[in-house]
Formats: sequence, C-alpha cells, structure tokens
Amino acid sequence: MNDTIASIQSTLLEQVATSNEPREVLKSNEIKKLYAAIPSLEPAERGAYGKAVNELKLALEAAVSAREAELEDGSVVALDVTAPWDSNTGPVSLLPATQGSIHPLMREITVLSDIFARMGFTTEESREIDDQEHMFEVLNFPKGHPARDDYDTFMTVEVDSNGEPLIAPAHTSTMQNRVLQKYKSNLENNEPIAVVVPDRVFRNEDLDARHEHTFYQIEGVYVAKKVHAGMLVATLQKFLEEYYGKALEVRVNPFYFPFTEPSFEFALSCPFCEGKNPTCKVCGGEGWIELLGCGMIHPNVLKAADIDPSVYTGFAFGCGVDRLVMMKYGIEDVRHFESGKLDFLRQF
Ligand code: DAH
Repeated sequence: MNDTIASIQSTLLEQVATSNEPREVLKSNEIKKLYAAIPSLEPAERGAYGKAVNELKLALEAAVSAREAELEDGSVVALDVTAPWDSNTGPVSLLPATQGSIHPLMREITVLSDIFARMGFTTEESREIDDQEHMFEVLNFPKGHPARDDYDTFMTVEVDSNGEPLIAPAHTSTMQNRVLQKYKSNLENNEPIAVVVPDRVFRNEDLDARHEHTFYQIEGVYVAKKVHAGMLVATLQKFLEEYYGKALEVRVNPFYFPFTEPSFEFALSCPFCEGKNPTCKVCGGEGWIELLGCGMIHPNVLKAADIDPSVYTGFAFGCGVDRLVMMKYGIEDVRHFESGKLDFLRQF
C-alpha cells in the first residue's frame, strides 16, 4: 500500500515541477482515489494509511508553492521585454510600475532643487533629530526666548551633552549654522555661500486641512559682500515664477523672526485667479497668498558661525513645500501627502 502511495507521489511531484498550472495537480484523480479508498480499509490500517496520504498532500502543496514562485520570477524576466535594461547589469527594475512610484513631494523637491541649482545654489539635506543648540541658540533664540513657543515640536527621551532632550526639528533653519560653517571658505575665495535645504520638519499641531505634524520646508541661505534685501526679493520672485511658469506679483511685509533683521513675510499674487475671482478657493478672494518667511541674516547668526558681519551680509528664507505643491496642483488637504492613500498618490 505504502509503495503505491510513494509511486503516486513521485509521479505527481514530477507533474508539478513541469506544469504551468501546478495547483491543478492537487485536484488530480489519483489523490481523490487515495482518499476514496479509506472507508474500504480494515479499521487497523486506516490510521497509518490516512497519515501517509496526508503527508503526500503536504509534500505536493509545498512543491506547488515553490513552482508558482519559480513561474512568477521567471515570467517577469522572460516576458517583460520593455523593462529598462542596463547593458552591464541586466534589467534595471523588475517591479511593475503599479507597485511603487516617486512620492509627489519628493518629485517636486527635485524640481525645486533644480531651479535653485540653475540660480547657483547647492542642495544640502537636513536631519530628523537635532539638538536645541542648532534649533534655537545659534539662531539667536536664547533660553527662555518667547519665540521658542512658535516652534513646539516632539522630543525624545534621549538628551544631548548639555542634558537637554533631542528634538524633531520644527524648521529647516536648524541647518543654517552648519551650512554657514561648511561653506565659509567660499567667502575667502570671493564666492558666495549659496545653499538650499529642502527636507522634513515636525510640529505639534492641531491637524486640519492646512496643518500637518510632518511636512516639508525649503530653507535658503545666501551670504557674500554687499548683499541687500532687493536681492532677496528678486531671488524669491524669480524662483516662484520659474516654479509656477508665469509672471507673478510679490509683496513683502515686515515681520519678526529672531534670526533675521529685518524680517519679512513674503506674499505672492494668487497663481490661480490673480486676484480676479472673489470666491477663489486658494486665496479666499484676496488675490494674495502669504507664502514664506525671510529676511536679512541677523549679525548674531553670522557671528555664531565665525563670519564677520561687518564684512559679509546675507539673506535667508524658509518656505513650506507642501503649500507650494498644493497651490500648483489644486490639492485641497495637506493631510493627503502623509496618508499613504493610493487613490491620491496614483494621480501623480
Ligand atoms: N524657520 C521659519 C519658520 O519655520 C521660516 C524662516 C523665516 C526661515 C525667516 C528663514 C528666515 O530662513 O530667514 O517659521
């Protein structure tokens, strides 16, 4: 009896190994017959026989899964003749496009960096955990400064060498001092420091269509001799006109940031309605959109990076990337970006 089972098993395993539809073998008549024989056996034989048939079934199922995996791998390599191909390493990606795509924010950040690269700015990355020294002190917010409250964010239980909790940075300005230090030698060679930092930031926010706890900013820093506020306004205006692909009016209002003096809030004419639609959803009919903070870098911020503010001046700005992208594509809710909703992501 066991010989019969063993020989049926080896025949069926061979069929599985060569079949293009291996799961069909599990329905074969041989297996049905083996089960149908059970009632006619002597009761004493039934236990051992049933066990042997079950083992056959398990062995076949394992073989079917292995064969299916083999067919799946093989079919992509063999059939997808349109897959991108590298002459040295073979197929570049075996994943169908429906299994992944670049996140819209990442794609737009590349666009923003490209625009700034054409204007002479280098791109640097920020970080997702930082110390309070970089987030506040070197930006001219001493301990106890009331403006620290505007940057309420998440803390870790880990502390830095001063015993202060590490934090998730609430703005990309946390990179200003590092960028100034890193590129300071440019100044000695009569070249400007010109850097943008597009990256993720975090805030303790009440969430709604315009507020998210995790979002993106792009920071800009420019330092050289004789830099003035007109250069700041012209740089931002050109950048925004490039991004939206049209001429825009801009407006600059005085504001306050500890790390710039003077500081401004920068608004642009609504790229959607240009002030012509009193019910415009983007600007609320005002025709202007407050978009970013900026100003002339405070002398204390330059000093903190060992740059002499009596010789060099500079401008800086920080702009919400999600907001820029929402306006470009008419996206009504900032929370879509972090939601992982495929319906949303597949539109890009
Ligand atoms: N860091 C500020 C914020 O998140 C934005 C900002 C304002 C950045 C002025 C700057 C600046 O570099 O100069 O609210």
